[in-house]
Amino acid sequence: MKIAIGADHGGYPLNEHIIKILGGAGHEIEDFGTHDGTQPDDYPDYAARVGEAVRDGRAECGIIICGSGVGAAVAANKLRGVRAALCGDTYSARQSREHDDCNVLCLGARVVGIEVATEIVRAFVGARFTGEERHRRRLDKVLDIERRETLS
Ligand code: RB5
Repeated sequence: MKIAIGADHGGYPLNEHIIKILGGAGHEIEDFGTHDGTQPDDYPDYAARVGEAVRDGRAECGIIICGSGVGAAVAANKLRGVRAALCGDTYSARQSREHDDCNVLCLGARVVGIEVATEIVRAFVGARFTGEERHRRRLDKVLDIERRETLS
């Protein structure tokens, strides 16, 4: 699977670890950095790059990591077509795909440990939207909110 990954200084070096894990599992990674956690930078820049890659179909899903994961999720969800889920557990990560068809995972590197983060990523990347009627109906309502917002 093609996966876009980006992290600000607060998300480094968890991004490097996740890239290694996913690369080792055979996924194709588009790596937007950062590769230097000592330089303060801005999470919206990474959220935009990863979100655009997913929105434009260059990546099937994305992962954005910042200190808490909150800023990354807020910023990524501003992009039309992006549904970003901030997850601190594997249940939410899996359900965000199966029920909500989320296409971006956000992680807080200062909140979750490296092993839990790895399991969350595996749960997210391995899950698929079920397509069940009730989930499609709810997703359509979410997309309708997005459409109305764009028109206003
Ligand atoms: C950076 O210090 C931090 O604010 C950022 O990584 C993130 O946690 C924002 O939500």
